[in-house]
Amino acid sequence: MRLLVTGAAGFIGSTYVRLVGDEHDVVVLDKLTYAGRRENLPEGTNLIEGAIEDPAVVREAMQGVDAVVNFAAESHVDRSIDDQEAFARTHVVGTGTLLDAARELGVERYLQVSTDEVYGSIESGSFTETSPIDPSSPYSATKAAGDLLVSAHFHTYGIDASIVRGSNNYGPRQYPEKLIPLITLNALHRDPLPVYGDGRQVRNWLFVEDFCTGIHTVLTKGKAGEAYNVGGPDECENIEVVKRVIELTGGDESLIEYVTDRPGHDRRYSLSSEKLKAELGWEAQVHFAEGLERTVQWYRDNEWWWAPIRSGEYREYYEKQYGKSLR
Ligand code: NAD
Ligand code: DAU
Repeated sequence: MRLLVTGAAGFIGSTYVRLVGDEHDVVVLDKLTYAGRRENLPEGTNLIEGAIEDPAVVREAMQGVDAVVNFAAESHVDRSIDDQEAFARTHVVGTGTLLDAARELGVERYLQVSTDEVYGSIESGSFTETSPIDPSSPYSATKAAGDLLVSAHFHTYGIDASIVRGSNNYGPRQYPEKLIPLITLNALHRDPLPVYGDGRQVRNWLFVEDFCTGIHTVLTKGKAGEAYNVGGPDECENIEVVKRVIELTGGDESLIEYVTDRPGHDRRYSLSSEKLKAELGWEAQVHFAEGLERTVQWYRDNEWWWAPIRSGEYREYYEKQYGKSLR
């Protein structure tokens, strides 16, 4: 297949390109925002620099393509709380632009990469694909709008499209605004470790390679018009995640600092992947203990990757987000 993979200069998309790049002919379309980095992609990747909301670039990138996998997104909840505009543009206008072009050019298959956050927070039990959509943040609300556009294009035009909803990913090449890489790099530098609120929020951790095998399973075997959850095998409170990272980095717990909570903070995410397992035979392979160890080791071994980030735009963001609370 010739695949158009959007947003693949980011964390998950670049892992996906590594997974399928030998077997399929891949074209990447990426706007190269602060989170999109050429060096995330394998050497020789066919990269078109452009936005998914730009109809001309999208049509050019989609020529001769059999399937589209849309990873392109503004992915950080805290940034969406600060300013939602780019989130709406990419997730809503961008998704619509891709769907229109896919229909007009007769692309055979479309896969939307989405998130468990569209279901909102759950106190006990796990979300299934029939759980109501009830997003809490501008990030998840705009992702949910993108999902609804995909469903609308299936119902209205019969486009062969599916949606995958992943739980919290972690692994190599994740931008250090997210909890695990942020805590890992801060712990390695003996910098304070910011924990929002009481730190008892729960996330359902999914190693990035497992998400990518789930995505490819749904692309190749999933049913049109359907959504599939891809959940990790383990749940963990944030404070426990932070303590495990401290152990792996040889830091100490006096670095932990409880800071003001995220507004509208979802308390717990939990996804049931029963449908994906029963219908398409996918299961996560990597437990949190193993995946976290591999991830921390990767950050230890790849200073060339994170050093330029930590001294660039990220510094400004970090100051704005954590400011004086961390000094
Ligand atoms: P990321 O921030 O690391 O990468 C996003 C990529 O999209 C970047 O390369 C960026 O340059 C590109 N991009 C942003 N806006 C664009 C636009 N308008 N046009 C073209 N490219 C654009 O994000 P990620 O963590 O790799 O997430 C990838 C996808 O997976 C997103 O759709 C996200 O919602 C979804 N997801 C993420 C997680 C997670 O835990 N990180 C979990 C479930 C689902
Ligand atoms: O659930 C899937 C989602 O997971 C994806 O759709 C998003 O793209 C991805 O960013 C992620 O969202 P979260 O908001 O859950 O991830 P984040 O790493 O930002 O935060 C994880 C938890 O840690 C959350 O409860 C907030 C908390 N946290 C985060 C940061 C950055 C802290 O306590 N301190 C921090 O400094």
